[in-house]
Amino acid sequence: MKNFVSASVLSADMLNFSSEIRKLEENGIDMLHFDVMDGVFVNNITFGIPVLEQVRKVTGMTLDVHLMITDPLRYIERFAACGADIISFHLESCSDTAETLKAIRSCGVKAALAIKPSTPAEAVFEYLNDLDMVLVMTVEPGFGGQSFIPSTVDKIRSIREKITSLGLDVDVEVDGGINGETAAVVREAGANVLVSGSYLFGAQDMRKAALSLKEDMPC
Ligand code: DX5
Ligand code: ZN
Repeated sequence: MKNFVSASVLSADMLNFSSEIRKLEENGIDMLHFDVMDGVFVNNITFGIPVLEQVRKVTGMTLDVHLMITDPLRYIERFAACGADIISFHLESCSDTAETLKAIRSCGVKAALAIKPSTPAEAVFEYLNDLDMVLVMTVEPGFGGQSFIPSTVDKIRSIREKITSLGLDVDVEVDGGINGETAAVVREAGANVLVSGSYLFGAQDMRKAALSLKEDMPC
């Protein structure tokens, strides 16, 4: 299975966004992860459609949009129209899950279902046939720079095992507190799309940091 790194731009220098994107492109990052927060679903407010529209104009990178908003179904068409390649929304948000997955796919966008640390693995099982990716939050959604929650590892493993047993081609993304050490743990459990913000942007050598997220490094 191929591993991907998705850079959480929450940790980027927003006033120099285009040069930050260039830097990510040049250092082997696969996707840009956008944490869209509405101040209601989580206790934080970030950015949304106008920023994505501008970003789409300056890069061909995969735009991985993580919606932490209430009733995401209302906004699917607009996020798709501004160039999202993948849209994740939360099972805990109040839109109908099956309907929202369908809406994302009908826009030609990859559909992903996100779950908070306290939501059990089994909650996503009934949707696995109708989605492209499961996003397992490895911190409480809302802020970058938090510590990885170890109890999420078993959940990653259960979801990957279920996907394999069903013979499906579904990615498992992890988000929050991912660094060189936690990356090895989540990869071993079955994650293959790794979101990283503070670790990547704080690294002296971004290329090396990205590589350490994707594969085991020699000691
Ligand atoms: C948290 C966000 C994450 C976060 C990752 O709500 O979904 O994407 O910014 O940041 P780090 O890698 O710093 O934990
Ligand atoms: Zn995220």
